[in-house]
Amino acid sequence: MQIDTLNRLSAWFDDYTQSFLSGNAKVDAPLTLKIDHTARVRENIRELAVSLSLDKAKIHLAEAIALFHDVGRFEQYRCYQTFHDSHSVNHAKKGIDVLTQLNVLESLPDIERTIIIDAIRFHNVPALPDNNGSPSMLFMRLIRDADKLDIWKVFAEYFQNDKDRNPVMVQHFVDQPGWDPKMIEAILEKRTARFKNIKNINDYKLFQLSWVFGLHFPVSAVLARKRGHLAAIAGTLPVDDAIKQAVATVMAALERPVCE
Ligand SMILES: [Fe+2]
Repeated sequence: MQIDTLNRLSAWFDDYTQSFLSGNAKVDAPLTLKIDHTARVRENIRELAVSLSLDKAKIHLAEAIALFHDVGRFEQYRCYQTFHDSHSVNHAKKGIDVLTQLNVLESLPDIERTIIIDAIRFHNVPALPDNNGSPSMLFMRLIRDADKLDIWKVFAEYFQNDKDRNPVMVQHFVDQPGWDPKMIEAILEKRTARFKNIKNINDYKLFQLSWVFGLHFPVSAVLARKRGHLAAIAGTLPVDDAIKQAVATVMAALERPVCE
């Protein structure tokens, strides 16, 4: 992708997302969070792509994917006031619908359009399909890692700060004692926990920690370790031996990343 194309798509994204804001910072907070998240995911994907020595055209394409991966969040929030997909719409599918209906990708070469749509479609599925030969695969992996790196940052800051609690941020999960043993079980078995098993905020934290087992690039684990967000999230979990063991398993995986 040419830099001019990326700049044009970026300008479109800015106009589109600004159109959802009311001007009231408190009301707009969930949406500005997504705008800021998108900018940081774009930086993350650039950092990953550069570290993998991708050429400029691929780096720009990866940045366009980051720009659009959550574009469906804006319509989702406008219609349903939640980011919980199963209580509203699949935000990846919604994003593809928005880009298609507004002809945003119309002038791109077919291969770039296909890669962007594939990467958006699969950025939020539990596991990627087994199609290693696809030119989309590299980009599908990049966006998943870049996204996780920023979600960990957002939640590390959110859980460490007792003020400004916002149920939208935690997908309306309740803050109550205890956790589902299935979350611990998944971590000890070094696999990503299931979203459907989340009952409360502790489960949600354990779910996020379990994402280390789905990282695709060793450099993502290096960045996660360096930034310390997983340790920060883990530090807000209840003190308990089972939790301690699960956290140790997560931290060990960051030292020796499991990559697909
Ligand atoms: Fe995202």
